[in-house]
Amino acid sequence: MAIERTFSILKPDATRRNLTGAVNALIEAAGLRIVAQKRVLLSRAQAETFYAVHKARPFFGELVESMIAGPIVVQVLEGEDAIKKYREVLGATDPSKAAEGTVRKQFALSVGENSAHGSDSPENAAIEIAQFFSGNEIVG
Ligand code: PPS
Repeated sequence: MAIERTFSILKPDATRRNLTGAVNALIEAAGLRIVAQKRVLLSRAQAETFYAVHKARPFFGELVESMIAGPIVVQVLEGEDAIKKYREVLGATDPSKAAEGTVRKQFALSVGENSAHGSDSPENAAIEIAQFFSGNEIVG
């Protein structure tokens, strides 16, 4: 199995409730290593760019508002099959459909305020990582 990197966001609903450590514990328990991490406040333009692929969807405005409502923690996670593994750690986008033990089952408030984001493909992971981290900020 290949060693991959994926991009993660701990969303404002998670930082507001002081859940950074709790989510990080689940990440590390799954065998993923946090190789870069910082706490930032997104501008509206940054949030719109990050979620540009969802621009035509009816929830776009609500999603952008929720992502700029408070600080987020952006991370790079490294490990075997990291992209798929992290999405398993997160659980389904809609917390009512998320499996027991997952981040979203335990912590998410709604499909929008679902506590964390994980990249869905190697291509998107590379694009998303590059939006927030330069090479020397990622230490494996
Ligand atoms: S997925 O995982 O990409 O297949 O999920 P998808 O349903 O396409 O959702 C993509 C992101 O949009 C967010 N979302 C919403 N935000 C606000 N309101 C509503 N109704 C809503 N539905 C979906 C969802 O949290 C996903 O965010 P990310 O950060 O990509 O996980």
